[in-house]
Amino acid sequence: MKRALTPGTFDPITSGHLDVITRAAQLVDEVVVAVAVSRKKGPLFSLEERVDLVCAATSHLPNVRVEPFDGLLVDFARKMDATVVVKGLRAITDFEYEFQMTALNYQLSQELETLFIMSPPQYMYLSSSIVREIASLGGDVARFVPPCVVGALEGKFASAR
Ligand code: COA
Repeated sequence: MKRALTPGTFDPITSGHLDVITRAAQLVDEVVVAVAVSRKKGPLFSLEERVDLVCAATSHLPNVRVEPFDGLLVDFARKMDATVVVKGLRAITDFEYEFQMTALNYQLSQELETLFIMSPPQYMYLSSSIVREIASLGGDVARFVPPCVVGALEGKFASAR
């Protein structure tokens, strides 16, 4: 069985992430969406909330499951018996950072391959932090995130306004 990881912070999951997960699920037998603890980023949503939102957003995809993870990605891949990491590449600015991570991950584990899926134009400039900013200012994020995330963001920012 070919199993892939799609890792990230998912704070929160966006339509761009969902596009990568959906396309990865067509390439392999099973996709494990690996939701990172990401302490350094101080996420808006708790780990449990981020996992729940990814579960809700991917519930229509039968070969996708969602797992939280901490520690090195290569160790988690080994634990999950995954041999491929699939990530999205948006603008050229992503390249250097992704290049570094891929090179280091390959040094840490030669069994783990990283594949990149180019983002379609409508998601090129999308990121979780932009979505959080629009939502925090009362903007409509419905076209950028799965439906379950719209309400979750409203809930986070309603009390602040
Ligand atoms: N569509 C939309 N947005 C996307 C996207 C896509 N396809 N791909 C990435 N993004 C955005 C995210 O929304 C996020 O935006 P923000 O920072 O503005 O909120 C940004 O790109 C970064 O994504 P993030 O999910 O934080 O992932 P990352 O590329 O920084 O990597 C891990 C996160 C968890 C995969 C990485 O830190 C990791 O592997 N950690 C484990 C520790 C480890 O092994 N370290 C050694 C690595 S060599």
